[in-house]
Amino acid sequence: MSGQGEPIPMTATRSGPLSGTAEVPGDKSISHRALILGAMAVGETRITGLLEGQDVLDTAKAMRSFGAEVTRHGEGRWSVHGVGVGGFAEPDDVIDCGNSGTGVRLIMGTMATSPITATFTGDASLRKRPMGRVTDPLALFGARAFGRQGGRLPMTVVGAADPVPVRYLVPVPSAQVKSAVLLAGLNAPGQTVVIEREPTRDHSERMLRGFGAELGVEDTAEGRMITLAGQPELRPQSVSVPRDPSSAAFPVCAALIVEGSEILVPGVSQNPTRNGLFTTLVEMGADIGFLNPREEGGEPVADLRVRASALKGIKVPEARAASMIDEYPILAAVAAFAEGTTVMRGVKELRVKESDRIDAMARGLEACGVRVEEEEDMLIVHGMGPGGVPGGATAATHLDHRIAMSFLILGLASKRPVSVDDGSPIATSFPTFESLMTGLGASIARAGR
Ligand code: S3P
Repeated sequence: MSGQGEPIPMTATRSGPLSGTAEVPGDKSISHRALILGAMAVGETRITGLLEGQDVLDTAKAMRSFGAEVTRHGEGRWSVHGVGVGGFAEPDDVIDCGNSGTGVRLIMGTMATSPITATFTGDASLRKRPMGRVTDPLALFGARAFGRQGGRLPMTVVGAADPVPVRYLVPVPSAQVKSAVLLAGLNAPGQTVVIEREPTRDHSERMLRGFGAELGVEDTAEGRMITLAGQPELRPQSVSVPRDPSSAAFPVCAALIVEGSEILVPGVSQNPTRNGLFTTLVEMGADIGFLNPREEGGEPVADLRVRASALKGIKVPEARAASMIDEYPILAAVAAFAEGTTVMRGVKELRVKESDRIDAMARGLEACGVRVEEEEDMLIVHGMGPGGVPGGATAATHLDHRIAMSFLILGLASKRPVSVDDGSPIATSFPTFESLMTGLGASIARAGR
């Protein structure tokens, strides 16, 4: 779990050209879901390429607490002996999801339609985040939740003994909420219907189908409507987890802003519900080649060849926000090296991530000498051109892995070094970040080394 040990201050210094191959780890969203659906299937699910970041390890541990047998066989190779839909046992202790909003929200959904009670907690970041967005729809199934003020963890969820199916229009663009409702719907009789106004990442839908659930998707006047037939018998699967585009974003953006760089980032998911950052970077003038497009583990993937590029600021279309929601911090860092202004609107969800990411990026960029404008739902970065960012500051990361990595990437092309107060949360999603980046030639070090 992050945030429980000593903080790890880190510093990035202006670096020479980056080169080589960046093999980023498995996708975090897909890794959580593979463990959870594996636990809901009858028999043995085998997983390769699982992200062994702390968030996912916490979900693996939670699945054991609910009765599944979860075994690590080697790097990224895991198996899950599931207990079947409705087969969850009551955990005999508190479920600690560490830093992971995805972990806690998906697991709450999964247990909410079983006649068991579970208490959830997490680190200081997760304990600040709103859970009402999942417990509201879970109450419609008949589950009850008792948490701290504002629907915060620690929270006890009493699962519905007699769940009823639900029709739910998701009020915020959130794949976690959508997925929590679908996972709860698995153990409700009849059809559970979830409608999302804006499409969000569709890994749950893809994987539920892969495990044998009956699931239909339709575009309607209300939005994207997903219908799930309850109480299926899920068949165990072999899941090959593609590399995480949200992690790939960091070496890709580093190569774009560090003069003379050229790197290859192989096997990156190009799922259209996840690839908004790459589309945006290309619009900004990034030289990215999408080589060898193919399918891996049910997801479209490509090898990305990235060369340092002169970037220009753009207005990022609001409709693209959901497909790049985790990438705004690194986009804000890259935008500082563009010519002109980058406008990011429709991004208020960033305020309830691992940290308030609009505030964290705005304060850190200002400290590094970059002019920004901020509103509840918007961030504007005034680019200073290649090599124009002064740097020379320490950014507060607020237990947020992506804020830490974004400022370290910023430091690789700033005039003066950029530090972060705590790099320890990086291990939640990208435990190999430091070695991978230094292997490409990036100058990133821990304090005192
Ligand atoms: C995720 C959904 C997104 C994203 C998070 C992973 C998922 O959160 O930010 O990192 O795996 O479903 P929201 O559902 O809050 O948008």
